[in-house]
Amino acid sequence: MLCQEIYRKVINCRGGWGIAGTPLHAAVSKGHLSCLQVLLAHGALVDCIDVKAQTPLFAAVRGKYLDCVLALLGAGANPNGNSSNNCSPVLTAAREGDVEILKELLKHGAEVNSRSKVLLWTSSARVSSGPLYLAAVYGHMECFKLLLLYGADPDYNGTDAKLLSSIKHPKTVLEMCLRHGCGVEYIQLLIDFGANVYLPTLIIEKSTKQNEAVELLLRERGNPKALMSQCRLAVRRYLKKINKIHCIDQLDMPTSLINFLQYKPAPATVL
Ligand SMILES: *[C@@H]1O[C@H](CO)[C@@H](O)[C@H](O)[C@H]1NC(C)=O
Ligand SMILES: *[C@@H]1O[C@H](CO)[C@@H](O)[C@H](O)[C@H]1NC(C)=O
Repeated sequence: MLCQEIYRKVINCRGGWGIAGTPLHAAVSKGHLSCLQVLLAHGALVDCIDVKAQTPLFAAVRGKYLDCVLALLGAGANPNGNSSNNCSPVLTAAREGDVEILKELLKHGAEVNSRSKVLLWTSSARVSSGPLYLAAVYGHMECFKLLLLYGADPDYNGTDAKLLSSIKHPKTVLEMCLRHGCGVEYIQLLIDFGANVYLPTLIIEKSTKQNEAVELLLRERGNPKALMSQCRLAVRRYLKKINKIHCIDQLDMPTSLINFLQYKPAPATVL
């Protein structure tokens, strides 16, 4: 069909049933990699949007089609999707627990503290949800750790100033994890990645389910971090600031130090 001018000229036009999208959206939403490649080769725009401002990459992430995600990123798709969309590829992958897709998005420079424009209602507080928060409440530990490794802010409380101003007491991820009864391993990781352990004030409330996590937090408040951990946080914060957090493996330093910076356990010593 694309050999004929009459079809070629509508290659980027929206249509179809349901959410009107382009042919690229249609191909990607069913995971048809070869159709995607043909369309791109004939001039389909990689970041065209459907009526909900969703890009083909967003559709591929939602459909969990890793091969399509890779093809689109390889063709230069914006890893953050379109800013008019309420959601983002990173938020969707974090919520769905798609660790491989999430890794590809982050490797291609997606914003790890991706903002959400949607407010969530919780028991008593309105919070702005970010990828870290979604990974925690949906119980996706691997995604949670991956986000932190790529520099997610452990004190994330939403990034949209206008949104934040409409919330009386914005909660950090740590507070939300305590409220939702996320496992103690989530709390431990947040602490290891430098969350402010003095921020949550709610831990005295009866609504807090998990005593183990609260005990951990209280213990942490009494014990400052070891100097080594402080150094790791400082180095990682700096790398994040200069957009080089994904380059730790390339640093010119001993493997044991690189592993330490990446929170990898030291290999067992062979006697
Ligand atoms: C979002 O889509 C609109 C319309 O296609 C486009 O003009 C704009 O540049 C896109 N924004 C981003 C961040 O991709
Ligand atoms: C969000 O958290 C940061 C700490 O990381 C804090 O400095 C900031 O004041 C908080 N924002 C609001 C609106 O509470």
